[in-house]
Amino acid sequence: MAYFVLKFLHVIGASVLLGTGAGIAFFMLMAHRGGRPAVIAGVARIVVIADFVFTATAVVLQPVTGVLLVRAVGYSFADAWIVWSIVLYLVTGVFWLPVVWIQMRMRDLALAAVADGTELPRSYHRLFRWWFASGFPAFAAVAAIFWLMIARPVAG
Ligand code: HEM
Repeated sequence: MAYFVLKFLHVIGASVLLGTGAGIAFFMLMAHRGGRPAVIAGVARIVVIADFVFTATAVVLQPVTGVLLVRAVGYSFADAWIVWSIVLYLVTGVFWLPVVWIQMRMRDLALAAVADGTELPRSYHRLFRWWFASGFPAFAAVAAIFWLMIARPVAG
């Protein structure tokens, strides 16, 4: 029973991480492509909230349910798939944390452009390029974790 609850929460957490990440990326990209500062500011404001409410919660809970599952099933923390999952999880975090800050900056720059009635500044476009580029390694790492979790390859 405890095992089922843990696994249920762990899989829900994985869905939230991937789903919120993909959703946020899509809506930000669409808002950016539209090029209207007011829309970008509005979407970025909601995206930042979603990241704090959904992604951050799942980011904290995922290793907790993961570690409890390792103990419940009796896996070893020396198992290669678990070691690599944790390494890749840290890699994801290294790319995700700056993205949260970038989204806040993009929101503020878009808001300032709306208030001043100006174009989006060069700094906004530079930040967008970093935001866009960070998404690829972060998603690749999460996809690799999914594979490791499902396949649980045994080394050797
Ligand atoms: C960060 C540390 C993590 C640890 C220690 C961990 C640990 C585990 C363990 C032990 C299982 C197997 C449970 C069983 O045998 O029934 C599992 C399953 C699973 N994990 Fe993780 N996990 C972690 C992170 C993640 C992340 C980041 C994701 C995806 C975003 C994820 C997605 C999954 C999925 C989808 C399963 C179910 C696989 C299946 O039953 O075929 N895990 N996890």
